[in-house]
Amino acid sequence: MQESSSKTEEVAQRLRIQYNELAELAGSLAHEIKNPLSVIRMNMELLAEDFADAETPHERRALTKIETVQKQCTRLENLLRDFLKFARLRDLELSPGSLNDVVERVLAFFEPQAKQSDIEFIRFLDPALPSIKLDEQTLHAALLNLVKNSLEAMPDGGQLLARTRLTRNGVALDLIDTGCGMDSKTAMRMFEAFYSTKNGGSGLGLPTARKIIEAHGGRISVQSDVGRGTQFTLEFPQPARIQ
Ligand SMILES: Nc1ncnc2c1ncn2[C@@H]1O[C@H](COP(=O)(O)OP(=O)(O)O)[C@@H](O)[C@H]1O
Ligand SMILES: [Mg+2]
Repeated sequence: MQESSSKTEEVAQRLRIQYNELAELAGSLAHEIKNPLSVIRMNMELLAEDFADAETPHERRALTKIETVQKQCTRLENLLRDFLKFARLRDLELSPGSLNDVVERVLAFFEPQAKQSDIEFIRFLDPALPSIKLDEQTLHAALLNLVKNSLEAMPDGGQLLARTRLTRNGVALDLIDTGCGMDSKTAMRMFEAFYSTKNGGSGLGLPTARKIIEAHGGRISVQSDVGRGTQFTLEFPQPARIQ
């Protein structure tokens, strides 16, 4: 019995080492791609300038092709940026802080964009919420991804409710939108890296958010109905309960 549990521990340890090696390799690869990509982008910009006054059909066709390459460069750059953010997540600096404050900052950031899209933010932030252990900047990045997704799910307007509450084991944040919701395939795959239903989406928003929340000792769960909306619930342990 004891032997088998030490075997399991050994396998887990080996898997952790392999995972870290792979994550590091993937991070370096993304870095290596960045430089040649920026050389391509620069040269495309110069070419686009050369063709800025395109007159003949031949020149105009060339300009269209240059613009296509430029668009794909932007797409790759965004993908690399999101990927590096995902791969770089290591040890967080957790210290007591207010979840309400982080939520409020994220909502304030998106407020102008929400107004433009006819989206109303509704806040039910419990003023008596106890503090939790958090890394403010990193948690902010996770919530940014979630609220951004909600806005993207409500192109014709809607409501996003942000509620914080005390739970039995800690505190929770509910983000409830009245957006397009998810079909069962998307609901199954949404946390997979690079899975996206959006044109040009990186598919890294949710995996990054989940990784961050888990690094806070928390967990994330989702309920979604097509055409009705989506609820994300984030649960965090209270400091005394964090191992
Ligand atoms: N609030 C939401 N409402 C509807 N669909 C969502 C929501 N959040 C996430 N999704 C679905 O999950 C997919 C993955 O999200 P994410 O990892 O952030 O990648 P991206 O936003 O780049 O597509 C999205 O493409 C979308 O289909
Ligand atoms: Mg996203």
